[in-house]
Amino acid sequence: MATTKFRDTVSPYSKPRPSPPPEDYLHQKYLSDLTLKQDARLPVLKLALFGVGRAGTIHLSNIVANRRVKLVYIVDDIESKWASIKNYWHLDDVIFLSSKQADKVYNDPSIDAVVVASPTFTHEGIVRKALEAKKAVFCEKPIAEDDANSVKCYETARKVGRPLFCAFNRRFDPSYSSVKDRVRNGEIGHVHVIKTVARDSPLPTLDYIKTSGGIFHDCIVHDIDLITWILGEFPIKVAVQAHAHIPEIKAIGDYDTVVISLYFPSGTLGSIDISRNSAYGYDQRLEVFGPKVSSVNGSWGKTVDSIAPNLLDVALEL
Ligand SMILES: NC(=O)c1ccc[n+]([C@@H]2O[C@H](COP(=O)([O-])OP(=O)(O)OC[C@H]3O[C@@H](n4cnc5c(N)ncnc54)[C@H](O)[C@@H]3O)[C@@H](O)[C@H]2O)c1
Repeated sequence: MATTKFRDTVSPYSKPRPSPPPEDYLHQKYLSDLTLKQDARLPVLKLALFGVGRAGTIHLSNIVANRRVKLVYIVDDIESKWASIKNYWHLDDVIFLSSKQADKVYNDPSIDAVVVASPTFTHEGIVRKALEAKKAVFCEKPIAEDDANSVKCYETARKVGRPLFCAFNRRFDPSYSSVKDRVRNGEIGHVHVIKTVARDSPLPTLDYIKTSGGIFHDCIVHDIDLITWILGEFPIKVAVQAHAHIPEIKAIGDYDTVVISLYFPSGTLGSIDISRNSAYGYDQRLEVFGPKVSSVNGSWGKTVDSIAPNLLDVALEL
């Protein structure tokens, strides 16, 4: 019988047991939850959250799940949703304020940090006031509506000696950073091709798209950042084709579908294939192709070197 034919004669207890790789941060967190070890260097920080829309809700969900932070204030101008937010997230002792009352946050010396997820045009003012009140700041991108004012915000942070954090989120995804490390360690040799596929879903509202800065600034910046971060090179030739299939997007002078090809000084070729509107759901992929066979096989996670050992591939499903 097939079942007895394949019976394992060695007990799993006498074989080496597989363990998750160090980049499996959820497993590391589980271990720390299990052992209940407190690190005295990690105090509980008091926070204020500005804006509970699409991005702010993700931050709120992370904040309430993090035992190292205590949310004290939420600042949001849609007062009609305060009660539902309070009820849904069990925020009985959180103080809700409108943006006109935000000085209470800046003037409260117990607040260590603010998280800014309000609309882009409000960022610079909130960031500056919070820094000047000696709060650490995490701000959704972009920090300001132009380069000069973004630089001024960082200068303020330096002057007051508080951190101002704004970054490309995918760099902090263990799957992407593992691809970067493996490329930089020469696992697949000189990279011949690097490509990303980025398909947004659901289609953002027109109100959002109108203030987003356009598909290049709002979406493609992530792909350009990832590719140049992994390679450590900037392209010397860039060709772009773009089209708006959606009439409302065309009417505001933006695009919903873009293909970019990149040529790098070392001969590496890059491609970016991006869409605002993916009918099957959110889809983010990165593939790096080189001539060398990877020596690492069968690692955990989403790296599919068992399929093709000279490809490092990340497929993200969120
Ligand atoms: N949505 C995303 O996937 C995404 C991704 C990356 C970055 N961002 C950035 O996050 C920011 C917010 O985007 P969003 O999509 O969540 O917008 P959103 O419109 O869904 O939410 C913004 C929220 O901020 C509130 N608000 C308005 N003025 C405010 C003020 N002065 N102070 C405090 N709150 C205020 C609004 O009432 C609303 O609830 C933007 O800068 C955007 O570029 C969004």
